Amino acid sequence: MCGIIGYIGRREAAPLLLNGLKRLEYRGYDSAGMAVLNGSMKMLKKKGSVSNLEELLNVSGTVMLGATVGIAHTRWATHGDPSDRNAHPHMNVSDDIALIHNGIIENYSTLKQELMAEGYEFESDTDSEVLVHLIDRIWKNDLALGLEGSVRHALRHVDGAYGICVVSSREPDKIVVARKGSPLVIGLGDGEFFIASDAAPIVEHTNKVVYLSDGEMAVVTRDNYTVKTIENVEQQKRVTELDFSLEKIEKGGFEHFMLKEIFEQPEVMRDVMRGRVRVEEGLVQLGGIHDYLDRLKQAKRIVICACGTSWHAGLIGEYLIEEFARIPVEVDYASEFRYRNPIVSADDVVIVISQSGETADTLAALRLAKEKGAMVMGICNVVGSTIPRETLCGMYTHAGPEVGVASTKAFTAQVIVLFMLAMALSKGRTISHEEIRLNLRELADVPDKVARILEQNDAIKEIAVKLKDARNALYLGRGYNFPVALEGALKLKEISYIHAEGYPAAEMKHGPIALIDEDMPVIVIATRDNTYAKILSNIEEVRSRKGRVIAIASEGDREIERLTKDVIYIPQASAAVLPLLTVIPLQLLSYHVATLRGCNVDRPRNLAKSVTVE
Ligand code: F6R
Repeated sequence: MCGIIGYIGRREAAPLLLNGLKRLEYRGYDSAGMAVLNGSMKMLKKKGSVSNLEELLNVSGTVMLGATVGIAHTRWATHGDPSDRNAHPHMNVSDDIALIHNGIIENYSTLKQELMAEGYEFESDTDSEVLVHLIDRIWKNDLALGLEGSVRHALRHVDGAYGICVVSSREPDKIVVARKGSPLVIGLGDGEFFIASDAAPIVEHTNKVVYLSDGEMAVVTRDNYTVKTIENVEQQKRVTELDFSLEKIEKGGFEHFMLKEIFEQPEVMRDVMRGRVRVEEGLVQLGGIHDYLDRLKQAKRIVICACGTSWHAGLIGEYLIEEFARIPVEVDYASEFRYRNPIVSADDVVIVISQSGETADTLAALRLAKEKGAMVMGICNVVGSTIPRETLCGMYTHAGPEVGVASTKAFTAQVIVLFMLAMALSKGRTISHEEIRLNLRELADVPDKVARILEQNDAIKEIAVKLKDARNALYLGRGYNFPVALEGALKLKEISYIHAEGYPAAEMKHGPIALIDEDMPVIVIATRDNTYAKILSNIEEVRSRKGRVIAIASEGDREIERLTKDVIYIPQASAAVLPLLTVIPLQLLSYHVATLRGCNVDRPRNLAKSVTVE
């Protein structure tokens, strides 16, 4: 996701900041920029890679000479396309305050309207820009507040997540930083300080760091730093000594991007719901489709087109939308849809789902659906990619950049978006307000439950040891867990190269049962829902043919232990949110099997992150 680097000291700031941005490139980004102070504010920003910004610096960087304080940013778009003007830093009208921001300001549109009514002009489409104008307004109204006080007051008006760095030529010898939900770390050098979103750009300068906690602000000068809460209470902070390598820091301390991304899921899930779900009010607000919701509700049929993991998310979407919104849904492989002359008309809504927003088959399906007159909506992760540009409306998943080739956090983010969509389509039509509220409660509880599942990582690794020499594996699930069985099998085959198949459990007796013997591990998702008793019978069938069973079961289920010793427990939850929980152990299982087999999990053979060819 976005990256932050700030510097205050006695050395030239611009080259240090540029170097810091290069260290942050691994996080994924679409534009970069920096602002420094040398008497007045100087800013440069550019769409594309840090090398684009470097070229700009080579041409116009002399204006930045002599600056020993500055802030810089790599942006991953959430609000507004990747472009020069949406890149950070953002400045106030008088160009004397500059701000960089990671996170999402949920109430930005209300704040923006207020500020515009007072005559503030916006130069970007970002949520972040409201912050700099808000600080400007507060400071103008009470000069005594200074930069620190103005930032503090501004943050009191803000809902959402942020990690921010702010500088001003009115108080040129300080950087004011604050964090809520978006990490910030201060690197302590000798007569100099670094501020960053993670330790990667800091570690080559110092190994002494202070991590800010949520709700804290810091004022950093050349000689000192003070940390206070946003309520202005001074905090004593512990200095931590880093003993990680740069490579490990880039992966958040994890061995691989895939593992990092699996572990990011509780946070990502909260980000997906941020500003969109209001549990107590039973409200789902989906800005990207708001104006088209009535048309969506009137659809005669919804067709979901996608590939791979995104197709599995689409299957869960089918179950959710049909169960709650009672609109018929078909899910098609985009590659099949585009070539089979499908029946699609203006009464249909076609939803395309894609992490990258660039998958060739999905794009072709989208274009065909448009040609046939259907309303086309997108669910994508990469802002400004081709698919969101070509769809009429849509929703971003806000999962942040996914670097590991095997999709993990993007999948769970897609499922959450589909869940929210199902609720929005049901509202006022098919289920009561109370049912919506209960479903949203279940959804909002998911991130904490996922965090509890992740705590079982070591136990899951032990089970993976038993699976690592298998040549085949079968995944079984029913209902909402059937697409999860497909996804579990896909994860295993793509990164460990073990042949695996997913099936609806009841289909086993129609063919796959012939494969079962002592060499066939069977991973069964056997959670407590309306198909539980039937799944237990499936497990008995496997056992009686000497198949080895690994079960994913609900906490408190002792019956399952009678049937297999290899059980991974997940917290109790309603059936509709189960895929968000049951998929987690399957992701971890595949990861561990693959690493135990010595496979390159982040770059599996023959696979590409974005399949832009047929
Ligand atoms: C599997 C995986 C692929 C993608 C598929 C579609 O882990 O990543 O199956 O899901 O190539 O990609 P997107 O979602 O970018 O359209």
